[in-house]
Amino acid sequence: MIVREGEFEPVHPLWHKASVTASWLQLSLKATPAALDTIANFLIERGSPGVVLNQEEIQAFFPSLPGASTLKRDIGVFLKGIDEIYPGVVRQRPRWTVLKDKNWNSSWRRFFSPQKVARGFLITPPWIRSNQSGRRKVIVIEPGMAFGTGTHPTTQCCLEFLEEVVHSLKSTRVPALDVGTGSGILAIALAKMGLTKIVALDNDPVAIKVAGGNVRRNRVGRAIELLESEVKQVSGSFAIVVANLTAETIVGLAPAFRKKVSRRGFLILSGILDQSAPEVLSHFVPRPFTLVRQRSVKEWTTLALIKKT
Ligand SMILES: C[S@@+](CC[C@H](N)C(=O)[O-])C[C@H]1O[C@@H](n2cnc3c(N)ncnc32)[C@H](O)[C@@H]1O
Repeated sequence: MIVREGEFEPVHPLWHKASVTASWLQLSLKATPAALDTIANFLIERGSPGVVLNQEEIQAFFPSLPGASTLKRDIGVFLKGIDEIYPGVVRQRPRWTVLKDKNWNSSWRRFFSPQKVARGFLITPPWIRSNQSGRRKVIVIEPGMAFGTGTHPTTQCCLEFLEEVVHSLKSTRVPALDVGTGSGILAIALAKMGLTKIVALDNDPVAIKVAGGNVRRNRVGRAIELLESEVKQVSGSFAIVVANLTAETIVGLAPAFRKKVSRRGFLILSGILDQSAPEVLSHFVPRPFTLVRQRSVKEWTTLALIKKT
């Protein structure tokens, strides 16, 4: 994913492996604005968990894993290729720097600042104590090891829809299920809105560990049960099920989602690229769900559905 200063979201599958490596490679180069997105997309495809664009400069970070010399060579060939087709687009040759863990942390930290999300949340990293929360509920998230820092449009739309759904409930004493909890952000938001029976699951043990840290940081451990599992292993049904996954995963889990949402309950789905939204919807609507909200932000669609029967 491409980010500008101030927003960052690790999205690449390599991210979890990357987060446990001792060192990182930082690539910096300058290019014309027209070429920035093309180059950034290539760098992401080659495994960078995040690429930062700042005017005409690109910084991309890669885990320092075996195979880095192939990576450097491939990127060199790619840049040479586009410079041959469009002479002058690459304004400064790529520079590679090794970042030790310590430097890595400080270099990333500057991209995180407290941010207001939806109507009622302020998401902040633990090293910033914000006194700007006003009436917003503060969610402290340690960025880096799992998806869900609050900057990604899918997470933000889920928070927005969860807020609406919880406000429409008569009682907060209903069970909720967060499928693919990542950093735990959505489950923590539900707890901060007063829900006390939340199951948050992820099939990635790293995410469960990270979510556990964030749950403790936010002092909502009593309300949230964290499970390293798949949705079909969870018993019971839920008044709210939220799942920020991918279209493909959601379609694969559609039978389980249809079962896990209780009657008149809500299903919030995100991580769906706009073009896949009709296909995803066809697995839930017109039966047993009705679509109540649909929102697209930066090519990501989020859906809110209510179960009729
Ligand atoms: C895009 S992240 C969402 C994180 C957070 N819920 C948010 O909205 O920001 C998706 C998470 O789902 C997890 N995941 C993917 N497939 C899954 C599955 N079949 N069952 C459980 N978790 C899954 C991934 O490990 C990842 O942590």
